[in-house]
Amino acid sequence: MNFTEAKIRCENLRKIIEQHNRSYYVDANPTISDFEYDLLIKELEAIEKEFTELQTADSPTQRIGNDINNEFVQIKHKYPMLSLGNTYSESDLNDFDQRVRKIVSDFEYVCELKFDGVSISLIYKNGILQQAVTRGDGEKGDDVTANIRTIRTIPLKIYGDYPDEFEIRGEIFMPRSSFERLNKERLDKDETPFANPRNATAGTIKLQNSSQVAKRGLDCFLYYLLGENLPHANHYDNLHEAKKWGFPISQHTKKCQTIRQVIDYINYWDEARKTLPYDTDGVVIKVNNIEQQEELGVTAKSPRWAIAYKFKADQAVTKLLSVDFQVGRTGAITPVANLQPVQLAGTTVKRASLHNQEQINILDIRIGDMVIVEKGGEIIPKIVGVDKSYRTDDSKAFEYITHCPECGTKLEREESEAKHFCPNENGCHPQIIGKIEHFISRKAMAIDGLGVETIELLYKNNLINNIADLYDLKKEQLLPLERIAEKSAENIIKSIEDSKNVEFQRVLFAIGIRFVGETTAKKIVETLHSVDKIMTADENELLQVDEIGERIAQSIIKYFANPKNQEILQRLRNAGLQFEAKETNKKISDKLKGMSFVVSGTFTSYSREELKQIIEQHGGKNVSAISASTTYLLAGEKSGQMKTEKAEKLKVKIIDENQFNMLINK
Ligand code: IVH
Repeated sequence: MNFTEAKIRCENLRKIIEQHNRSYYVDANPTISDFEYDLLIKELEAIEKEFTELQTADSPTQRIGNDINNEFVQIKHKYPMLSLGNTYSESDLNDFDQRVRKIVSDFEYVCELKFDGVSISLIYKNGILQQAVTRGDGEKGDDVTANIRTIRTIPLKIYGDYPDEFEIRGEIFMPRSSFERLNKERLDKDETPFANPRNATAGTIKLQNSSQVAKRGLDCFLYYLLGENLPHANHYDNLHEAKKWGFPISQHTKKCQTIRQVIDYINYWDEARKTLPYDTDGVVIKVNNIEQQEELGVTAKSPRWAIAYKFKADQAVTKLLSVDFQVGRTGAITPVANLQPVQLAGTTVKRASLHNQEQINILDIRIGDMVIVEKGGEIIPKIVGVDKSYRTDDSKAFEYITHCPECGTKLEREESEAKHFCPNENGCHPQIIGKIEHFISRKAMAIDGLGVETIELLYKNNLINNIADLYDLKKEQLLPLERIAEKSAENIIKSIEDSKNVEFQRVLFAIGIRFVGETTAKKIVETLHSVDKIMTADENELLQVDEIGERIAQSIIKYFANPKNQEILQRLRNAGLQFEAKETNKKISDKLKGMSFVVSGTFTSYSREELKQIIEQHGGKNVSAISASTTYLLAGEKSGQMKTEKAEKLKVKIIDENQFNMLINK
């Protein structure tokens, strides 16, 4: 195939693929099999790989995302992104209707579902998606285009008679099926599940790596068109037009002539929404005619021509039988209510979260009370109040525990924390087990041969009491245990042995220092390289690490000051675990000594992470925010505008990749 043939085929393939995307995602009417679709994508990928000049950002192959670390650049919205006033009752709606009637007459409403996700603004020029920006503070938001491109329902290119330039706004959400799959995966990997699809969506949109976003199954509905040359003078027809161009527009949007019809729509969807595959939290009511919208105008925060009606969360009243206190891996105490089983939003609820002592005090919750349980978007229902009319005279205020229910140690509570803690981190059963489970988990030491049940078994048989004990285990000690045959004993020993090669940053995450998650561990290792440096670092040195604040710094110091932890670390070191970063993080020169850098944007010869590594290898320091003491802002393409402005204001020198090369090569 020569270049011209490739170009023609490429354009054809893109058109065919986008049409199939539309049939599949927008019209829900696929005309080819997934297999055939994949063949088309593969063919296009192959052409783009051979003829790199044909690669474009709007190609359907780009939906798989890339591994580049995104740093979000802030973009000013052309039209501010307003929010909506909320209503909760029929009388609120009647008030809204009266307010509208005072200003315009002879109008109609459009009712739409209020999708429970994250709002987004998409900018199209000449039919091509240019930019996707989050709401941010309403004035400016984050440029999340790379991530949004991976959402298959959002057209990268549109077809038909569209205006040259326009903005279309809508909601990105995670369908319940994607949410359940994601949380299952997270639980399997010992990661904290997301509380609800909305949080999962928000977390996903801000992921640094768009290829991860592509896997999360996000979806979108668009509900608001803005621009100078819109096809129709009313909102409803504009949305229908946008659907023809290829946008995902909800089919449940309805025109209503009276507020009574609006209320009927709300009542219908309050029940029917439960059958939708995604979450909605209300109905949005909009005046249809755009001229009338303009006449009604906006207040500081929201338009006068639209309002949101919020569905009430599902609630039930039931008896609080008792309260359990759970102790987590880090010693955090969570009170959990045991309830008389009650039906709520299609499931039987027996347990509900009580959060912490303060919450219990505020709500004045007592054992035996009839409590109001609510199921919002969260997985675990929560108690939101007490029906005191059922309370008997002998009911007593709730006494919160003062000692750990597992080990009896006196609980502690730091001023800034809502939760109590059991400080007996190395002697309290759920903490011991939890710490070992965390240590072996996939993102930590990845000791696959061991599972949660085996850990319990080894602990019960006095073979392990902490993470260091794992490295003293012998095959002969395992064989007498029930359920452990020769082969699995060998597997366990081998995978423990293999873990000695796990890189230092994961070891640091695995040892379970409070607040030191995977990313924090990585950042610490990037700056401090070895356990010896970390354990001798004072608070100031720790605060120099990107993203580390006082809370984390103090937690690290506390961990290393504990003699029991010191002993465990010594044993792990003797066993041969990696306690320092590999060569790549080692010093090359002192050319950048005493200099601090903020790296922003994208670069031609290096990734941002590589640059940060080079800075450290030459004795320089990376900092995340610009201050007067920063030496250089190393700015690449698309470097954040705010950063540039701040650097100029504080007279921090701005250098590019070439100037940086000169610094290290001089
Ligand atoms: S219209 C100026 N329509 O609800 C009007 N918003 O509470 C702009 N939302 O920020 C919004 N579904 O994120 C509109 N059908 C819908 C919506 C919707 C969900 C969200 C949106 C907005 C928030 C306001």
